[in-house]
Amino acid sequence: MALLELEEVRAGYGPTSVLHGVSLSVPEGQIVSLLGANGAGKTTTLRSITGGVHWTGDIRFAGRSLRRMHTEDVVRCGIAHVPEGRGILTELTVDENLKLGSHLRRDGAAVRKDYDRVFEYFPVLRERRGLSASTLSGGEQQMLALARAFLMKPRLMLLDEPSLGLAPLIVRAIFEIIRTINTEDRVAVLLVEQNARLALEMSSDAYVLEVGRVAVSGTSSELKGNDAVRRSYLGY
Ligand SMILES: Nc1ncnc2c1ncn2[C@@H]1O[C@H](COP(=O)(O)OP(=O)(O)O)[C@@H](O)[C@H]1O
Ligand SMILES: [Mg+2]
Repeated sequence: MALLELEEVRAGYGPTSVLHGVSLSVPEGQIVSLLGANGAGKTTTLRSITGGVHWTGDIRFAGRSLRRMHTEDVVRCGIAHVPEGRGILTELTVDENLKLGSHLRRDGAAVRKDYDRVFEYFPVLRERRGLSASTLSGGEQQMLALARAFLMKPRLMLLDEPSLGLAPLIVRAIFEIIRTINTEDRVAVLLVEQNARLALEMSSDAYVLEVGRVAVSGTSSELKGNDAVRRSYLGY
C-alpha cells in the first residue's frame, strides 16, 4: 500500500470538470513528480487532496479515505500543502508565519528541535525572525513556506511549483533542502513542477497530466529516457 493513493479522481469548479479520472500514488518516503503544461490540472489535483475542491473517486492516505474531510483534518493526518504562490502571510512576521506551521502540535520538545532544524536548513529565516514576511525576497518566501510546512511534522508534503519565478541558483539550493528533508526526515513529497528536468532529477516516479488525465507515467528514469515523451510532454 502506498502512502497516498488517488483512484479515478474527478474534480472541477462548479459546472467545469477539470480532472477526468486521475489515478496516482506516492509510496512512503518517496518523491513523486506531477508534471504537465499550464492548465493541465496539477494544482487542482493538490487541491483535491487537501479538500480545497469538490472531488469524486477516492483519495486514501495511509489507508484511510480523505473523502469529506476538511482541510484542517487533512493537515492533522500528516499532509502539508505549500500552495501555488507560497501562501505565506505577508502582513505577519517570519516567526508568526512559522507558528502557523507548529500551532496544532502538542509535542513541545520535538517542536523546539524542529525549529532548530528549520534554522539549520534556512539560516536566513533565523536572522529575519522578527521582520515582516513582506520584506523577504521571493526565494526567502519560498523557504519560509517550506519551513512552515516542515513544522507541521508531515509525512507528506505537497509542493506546488516551488521553483516558480526564482533564479536558478536559489532553485538549486531549495531543491537540495527538499531532498534533505526527504531523505533525513523521511518526508514523502508530491512535487508539482513546470521544470520537468529538475523535477525528474529529484523524483523516483513521475506522472504527466494532460487536460485532466494521466497521459504518461513511470519511473523518472524511464520518462527521462523516452525521447517521444520528452519532446511531447517535457519540452526539452
Ligand atoms: N478557481 C477556479 N475556477 C474555475 N476554473 C479554474 C479554477 N482554478 C483553475 N481552473 C481551471 O482548471 C484548469 C486546470 O487548472 P490548474 O489545476 O490550475 O492547472 P495547472 O496547475 O496544471 O496549471 C484550467 O483550465 C483552469 O483554468
Ligand atoms: Mg498550477
